[in-house]
Amino acid sequence: MSEVKPLLEGVRRDVEAALDGVLPPVAGDPTRLHEAMRYSALDGGKRVRPALCLLAAEALGGARARALPAACAVELIHVYSLVHDDLPAMDDDDLRRGRPTSHKAFGEATAILVGDGLQALAFEALARAYGDDPALGLDLVRLLAEAAGAGGMVGGQALDMSGQRLPREEAALEGLHRMKTGALLRASVLLGARTAGARPGDARWTALDAYARAVGLCFQVMDDVLDCTASTEALGKTAGKDAEQDKLTYVALLGLDGARAKAERLLSEAVDALADLGPPAEPLRALARFIVARSS
Ligand code: IPE
Ligand code: IPE
Ligand code: MG
Ligand code: MG
Ligand code: MG
Repeated sequence: MSEVKPLLEGVRRDVEAALDGVLPPVAGDPTRLHEAMRYSALDGGKRVRPALCLLAAEALGGARARALPAACAVELIHVYSLVHDDLPAMDDDDLRRGRPTSHKAFGEATAILVGDGLQALAFEALARAYGDDPALGLDLVRLLAEAAGAGGMVGGQALDMSGQRLPREEAALEGLHRMKTGALLRASVLLGARTAGARPGDARWTALDAYARAVGLCFQVMDDVLDCTASTEALGKTAGKDAEQDKLTYVALLGLDGARAKAERLLSEAVDALADLGPPAEPLRALARFIVARSS
């Protein structure tokens, strides 16, 4: 755990500075929308997705500066997904990152628009930053769009909302979690790898993809565990929501011990996948361990 703290702190500093530059200005019009977008995206959050992106690029010898716009784009999509996830029509949550949710602070209509604005901004940021290499830019846009859309996060959220109608079987749950959370975490790694020159089919890409798939699923398994073991204060979001809303989760299906064991198996899978990448991939191994050991 201690090994990863300075790493995440460095990522947080770099990503927040970059997000600050990409987000619309405080004083610009419409002021309330800008204010709400900045409120939701800045200050808070573990920044795990940007960390995966930057550390994957660095594991392949890529420069952090080159991966940073991609890391921001992934975080913007993530924040949009949180803002919409918390809306009354979805999980109906009041607390996020230790503060009132976007719709509680700014109203529902503004929160919907915050999500819309952040999503568009993610792709605008990619197009601007990688305009010098259109083939790279296009690959990044496609990877992120596929992960964010109906075949990824949005599709997973749709399944999550219809949870009571899904078969209460592990295969159905795994598919749901891989889409709603795994896809964007996987894309975080692949975008970083792509900025460092890797391409689908390369041995390094294949290794990172296996790592990313395991970490992506593991992350949501632990989110399910923390929902029923951690306090609202520690989480910065309301604890115990999944049971209250009868969500299909790993804890609901396998129990706490079963869910924890699943997370440990996925952690081993993630670490094993990096065997051939050697010492430069050590930060990614540490990040995977953090994802299982975290308390929020
Ligand atoms: C929470 O994600 C939503 C899920 C996809 C499980 P995080 O736990 O990464 O939330 P932040 O970004 O740290 O607030
Ligand atoms: C959310 O899953 C996944 C997203 C795409 C945002 P959850 O609904 O479990 O996330 P939390 O627990 O509210 O952060
Ligand atoms: Mg949800
Ligand atoms: Mg939720
Ligand atoms: Mg949750």
